[in-house]
This record gives sequence, structure tokens and C-alpha cells, in this order.
Amino acid sequence: MREITPQQAKYQSECTARVKKLNLSRESAPRACVVTYGCQQNESDSEKLRGMLCEMGYLISDDPKTSDVVIFNTCAVRENAELKVFGNVGALKHAKRKNPDMIIGVCGCMMQQPHISETIKSKYNHVDIVFGPHALYRLPEILERALKKNRVFEVENSDGEIAEGIPVLREPPPLAKVPIMYGCNNFCTYCIVPYVRGRERSRKAADILAEVRSSAEQGYKEVMLLGQNVNSFGNPVNSDENISFPQLLRMVCKTDGIERVRFMTSHPKDLSDELIYAIAEEDKICKQLHLPIQSGSDKVLRDMNRGYTAERYMERLDRVRELIPDITVTSDIIVGFPTETNEDFEDTLDIIRRARYDMVFSFIYSKRVGTPAAKMNPFLTDEEIHRNFDRLLEVQNEISKRKNDEYVGRVEEILVEGESKTNPEYMCGRTSGGKTVNFKGGVELVSKLVPVKIIKAQTWSLTGELCD
Ligand code: SAH
Ligand code: SF4
Ligand code: F3S
Repeated sequence: MREITPQQAKYQSECTARVKKLNLSRESAPRACVVTYGCQQNESDSEKLRGMLCEMGYLISDDPKTSDVVIFNTCAVRENAELKVFGNVGALKHAKRKNPDMIIGVCGCMMQQPHISETIKSKYNHVDIVFGPHALYRLPEILERALKKNRVFEVENSDGEIAEGIPVLREPPPLAKVPIMYGCNNFCTYCIVPYVRGRERSRKAADILAEVRSSAEQGYKEVMLLGQNVNSFGNPVNSDENISFPQLLRMVCKTDGIERVRFMTSHPKDLSDELIYAIAEEDKICKQLHLPIQSGSDKVLRDMNRGYTAERYMERLDRVRELIPDITVTSDIIVGFPTETNEDFEDTLDIIRRARYDMVFSFIYSKRVGTPAAKMNPFLTDEEIHRNFDRLLEVQNEISKRKNDEYVGRVEEILVEGESKTNPEYMCGRTSGGKTVNFKGGVELVSKLVPVKIIKAQTWSLTGELCD
């Protein structure tokens, strides 16, 4: 069983009460495990799956092999994410042979692709349940059917109503993930997300604010607002309310108890001055912007259907830095998009030198069935692509280290998240800009904002000392 906070203990004890009602002891209560792949949106969906399982009387476990119900919440964004899922689902065959009553479910973005759900159906006979993101809220009913020894497949498409009021079992405070919209309308030519997540739908502001308020009441200090492109929140095509994303941000900032507000992801083509003003003016909005450029070549950006040129992107970034000079900026870059030449790649290197990102998440292009880019012929060889990828890492790592060096000697306000993963004497937290800081301290600091003097910089993190 994993460590839980007092708030979660309360929630779990409610679960235990239900378990008791079913005349089961805590020891004999059934256990459920949810394994997550992919982005924050999927993490957030998994918190709902755990919430529903808890309500059904399951105790939440981290160990798939000894659980009665195991659900894999999958990601389809790149092939290596998919291969991992097939490997891990396959590995449970043995556990199921030992415990034939074990129920294995696979859900999430991968399942919304017909060729994948068909493969699971025909080749993975030990899988009892398959459902896509659109059927997430129906887990209780789906599970009931599986408990009666039916194999259940629910992968229909739907862009309909958003299901509200689903119970959520979150990770322990201080960070709460709050989705503000679902789906994507941008159809970048390499990307599977719009096909598996459907069209954009914004949640109602009142529902979002109620969730933020209840998180604050449960002791959460920071909210991360989630959407594939938060800048299109409240757009008339996906909402019948006339509230823009910057307006929503300002409303969220008014929540007592919430000290910090973050969001992702912001599409560069829709980054408005109104948003930049909100980040600059609202103290609670973290000074961090994830603004994925994907490529520095105008030709590749056009082939990707990104809707901006490199110059237009730099104009937006300059505007951000003019109004918020200390802001941390991060980006995503794809190396080896089919039409990318070595010259295009040089443009990408140029732009990352100009943009001076704090951090870049770089990915080798992965062909996704059904997307327009899958029909384009690759220009570079795998070897050239890998060589370019390594060069990008080298250039960016040096920039990241230099940017981190600038923090040495500064005092930063850190929201403490928990123990450092590598050294139990150290605690770990983040600056407003989202930089990870490790420093000596005790668990009593978790969920507190504390001043920390930065004494050392690494490429990926900072080391500090707690100030008196
Ligand atoms: N909606 C967000 C993030 C979507 S997925 C955005 O637009 O920024 C996160 C990142 O995965 C993308 O930014 C992109 O860099 C990468 N990605 C998406 N599809 C990919 C593919 N087919 N191959 C490699 N990387 C991909
Ligand atoms: Fe994919 Fe583009 Fe939508 Fe992001 S904006 S999810 S990269 S289609
Ligand atoms: Fe997220 Fe992967 Fe789906 S990135 S939206 S879990 S395809």
C-alpha cells in the first residue's frame, strides 16, 4: 500500500466503511491498481479511475501482481509508449494464471485506435476490459459487467457532454491537477491526440472553480490547470460561456488557500497579450511558460500545420520576456519530422540558441497511423536523425546549465513537495518558475512555502539551503 496523507486516509477510510458494509475485512477487501502512461491529462484521468474504484470498495494498491483489478491507462503519442504497454500487459498473463479471478483492464488513448483495440481483443485473451477515454466515467458499470465474467469493449467515439462529479483520489498535496478542457482541434500533422481525444470541450468555469475550492479545503496549495491548448479555453467552438483563459486564471487566483497556479499547454499561435498580462500581474500565477515550438524551420512548421513561423514565435516570446523578464520558458521539439532536412535541423538549433530555453523536451518523430504525416516519406535516415537528436541535447544541456548557474546565490521561494528521490535527508520542491530544488530539511516542511538559498546548479535541478 502506498503512503497516504490524512486527507486521503479519510477518503480511504470512507472506502473501508463501504468495504465493511459488504462484510469484508480490510485484509480481505479487494485491491485495485491503476498504472499510468503519458501526459498529465492521463495522470488526472487515473486519479478519477482510483476515485471510482475507491467508491466501489476497492483499496488502492501500487502492485499490479497482487491486485484483484489492474487497469493500464495508456498513451498513444509515440510508439515507445505503446510498446511499453504491450510488454507490461503481456507480463501480467502469469499473474492471472495464478489468480484467474483477476480482472485486467486497458484504457486510455491507445484503445481509441481501432488497430490497437483489435490487437488486444484477438491476441491478449487475458485482458477482460478495454475502454477509451470517452468511456472513463462508466468504469463502475463496465467493471460490474466484467465481474460477471463478460469481456467488455467500449471504444466508441464521442465528443459529447463532459461528465462532472466523478470522485477523485488525488496524489497527496500540495499539487492538484485540474483539467479545464478536453480534446484538441489543432490537428498538427504528426499528432494522434485529436483522433483519440476528440474535439475540444471546455468545462464550465463554475465546475472548475468548485474543484479548485475543494482542493484548497483538502490542503492542496498549487493547482495545475490542464488542457492540450489552454489558450482556446472558452472559445465559442468548444464552450457556451464567454470566459477567456486569462479571465479563468484570474478567477482561480481568488481561491483562498491556493498559493500557486500553473497551466499547460499553451499553443504559441494563440498566445495573447491578455494572457501575458495575467501572468505578469497575478502574484499567484507561476512565472513559467511551456511554449512548444516543435521546429525552427518555417517549412517544417508549415508541414506540421502549427500555424506560426519561427519569427512570429520569437515575437511572442520576446513580448513575454519584455513583460516578465524572470520567466522560465520550456519547449517541446520533434527531431526527424519526415520533411526535415539537415538544413531545417540547423534552423532548429539556431532557434534554441536564440530562445535560450530553461529546458527542452525533445522527441524523435514517431509515425502515428492515421495522421497526415504518416503518409510523408522520411527525408533523413535513422542514423542522421539520431545524430541530430544527440547534437540538440548537447546544445540545449549547455544552455540549461548556464541558465541554472544564474540562480546560484539567489533566494527562491520553494513549495515543498516531498522527500528527494535520491537522498532521504533532502527535501524537494519547486521555484515559481518550476525549477526543481533539493535542500536539507524534514518532512514537516511538505506543503509549505519556504525561502531557500541556491548554492549549486546542475543541468536539470538546483541545490539549496533552507534560510532561517
Ligand atoms: N498539446 C500539447 C502536447 C501534446 S503531446 C502541445 O501541443 O504542445 C506532447 C508533445 O509530444 C508534443 O508537444 C510533441 O513535441 C510530442 N509529439 C506529439 N506527437 C509526436 C509524434 N508523433 N512523434 C514524436 N513526438 C510527438
Ligand atoms: Fe497534438 Fe498539436 Fe493538439 Fe498539441 S496542439 S495535442 S501537438 S494536435
Ligand atoms: Fe496524453 Fe498520450 Fe493521450 S500524451 S492525451 S496520454 S496520447
